[in-house]
Amino acid sequence: MKKKVAVLISGRGSNLQALIEAARERDYPAEIVHVISNHPDAAGLERAAAAGIATSVVDHKGYRGREPFEAALNERLAATGAELVCLAGFMRLLTAGFVNTWRDRLINIHPSLLPAFPGLDTHARALAAGVRFAGCTVHFVRAEMDNGPIIVQAAVPIRPDDDEAALAARVLEAEHRAYPLAVALVASGRARVVGDTVAIDGAAPPAGFLMNPAGA
Ligand code: GRF
Repeated sequence: MKKKVAVLISGRGSNLQALIEAARERDYPAEIVHVISNHPDAAGLERAAAAGIATSVVDHKGYRGREPFEAALNERLAATGAELVCLAGFMRLLTAGFVNTWRDRLINIHPSLLPAFPGLDTHARALAAGVRFAGCTVHFVRAEMDNGPIIVQAAVPIRPDDDEAALAARVLEAEHRAYPLAVALVASGRARVVGDTVAIDGAAPPAGFLMNPAGA
């Protein structure tokens, strides 16, 4: 049985698209049953509709505060039978109550190698810090922002001539591979939360290391 996944978005939806494409594979262990946006004009809603996936708008502006907004989200999620919830560029902070309701069933993607650079403007901050690698992290969500047991990370090198846009584009490519992998690991039951970390059954780690700059 494929796991039923709902995806929460706020905008462009390129990670949603990557999940949609992965879920088209016959052997993929998850199916996207619903997409919810808090913005009525999110481009990702059209991507979902084009793929024949049902969508809802739960506009945070229509609610007085986070709890009623999240109650409406939960009502939608319950109606769709979602077993896993993926945040994909969902730009609302969630309360501890919501996060705990979905504990170990709520996944987020963040465009940095956490715990480095949580929050916004990650690429500008990585460039300013002069780090040699950037990347993305897919993790289970905990109440503290951009925090929680890490499922998958992907690293990309930072190049001397990178600006924010160039780095963001390189990281985004990695996101589009990391998110479908992480969801497959969770949906198939291979990824298990153990304390503050995730153990993955039968995972093959990549060999060796990357050095940046690669040579002098
Ligand atoms: C991605 O960089 C994601 O990591 C971050 O927000 C961005 C969303 O992009 N949380 P998209 O809407 O998936 O194209």
